[in-house]
Amino acid sequence: ARSIDLAVIPGDGIGPEVVAEGLKVLSAVLPSDVKLATTEYDLGARRWHATGETLPDAELEQLRGHDAILLGAVGDPGVPSGVLERGLLLKLRFAFDHYVNLRPSRLFPNTATPLAGRPDIDFVVVREGTEGPYVGNGGSMRTGTPAEVATEVSLNTAYGVERVVRDAFERAAARPAKKLTLVHKNNVLVHAGHLWSRTVERVGAEYPGVATDYLHVDAATIFLVTQPERFDVIVTDNLFGDILTDLAAAVTGGIGLAASGNINPTGAFPSMFEPVHGSAPDIAGTGKADPTATVLSAALLLRHLGHEAAAEKIEDAVTADLASRDGAPRTTSAIGDALASRVTA
Ligand code: NAD
Ligand code: IPM
Ligand code: MN
Repeated sequence: ARSIDLAVIPGDGIGPEVVAEGLKVLSAVLPSDVKLATTEYDLGARRWHATGETLPDAELEQLRGHDAILLGAVGDPGVPSGVLERGLLLKLRFAFDHYVNLRPSRLFPNTATPLAGRPDIDFVVVREGTEGPYVGNGGSMRTGTPAEVATEVSLNTAYGVERVVRDAFERAAARPAKKLTLVHKNNVLVHAGHLWSRTVERVGAEYPGVATDYLHVDAATIFLVTQPERFDVIVTDNLFGDILTDLAAAVTGGIGLAASGNINPTGAFPSMFEPVHGSAPDIAGTGKADPTATVLSAALLLRHLGHEAAAEKIEDAVTADLASRDGAPRTTSAIGDALASRVTA
């Protein structure tokens, strides 16, 4: 498309700080014949304190009309944990059926990582985004008493597992290494685990060119640190994928560099792009937040909308920017400026 109608949800904490830089780079990279229109949505802690609202239906409807969504982060120490996370972020992922939560990892140059110098670390986690323990199927009885009982039921449907597994096989088939690793815990979570394993086996028969592998999630955390080069595409449950991708970010260059896309591959709903990290209240307002993860999420957004050349420009700019760093600390906006000038050049 020659125009991009983008919804922007800066959110909380460092969210607005990193989103400003993401938009700076996005505007700089687009050729002059691609018009970028942005609509900012005031959602998050400020809004909740002012009105009690997290995501009213009218705004959900408006968001639905955009080509894509760029989100910073949500969550604030002054709001009960879960109110914004569930009521805003997860509501969007569920309402827009973002069943592929795509989280690429590659080893970035010149970063503080235990893996520095290791070759060929380039994998992608396909995290299921609409099921698992995230569905909110549970409850608490006798809350706050010594007899309290709390449950969080993990929902796994044949439909939901198959569609994300199929997407992961498609991605693996298109990559040079053509390898898919299922990560689960089928030695303990036997009901959901075996559904995932059987699905990978059955769908995998349609992809004879893709090698498949299985790891229990605990062992997967070992290999992400000791042998990350063994991974190509990882497909996994919503919660395991959440945890694995923070770990993957930490070992490949840092949480400030990890990008993600919440994708609805059918195109029926807008996809949403956001850094893997959260609102980082510990550094909000200090200018210490690295906006690179948001900038790289904007690259995923551009690729999703068919602007491949612009996406690659951003990714190359990030690699060059990291490689040329001298180790002196840079502010959020200094990194954004550096990336914007590299993609313009
Ligand atoms: P977090 O990712 O916000 O922070 C973890 C650590 O990483 C902190 O030390 C933080 O300073 C650092 N960090 C994060 N992003 C950084 C960046 N861009 N540059 C430099 N350092 C960075 O995770 P948390 O502390 O567990 O959660 C804080 C809040 O964010 C909570 O309310 C949580 O629910 C929410 N959260 C939201 C999202 C999201 O919106 N997608 C994701 C994760 C957490
Ligand atoms: C993430 C976050 C979210 C998740 C929370 C804030 C709901 O940790 O995007 O990784 O668990 O998916
Ligand atoms: Mn997370």
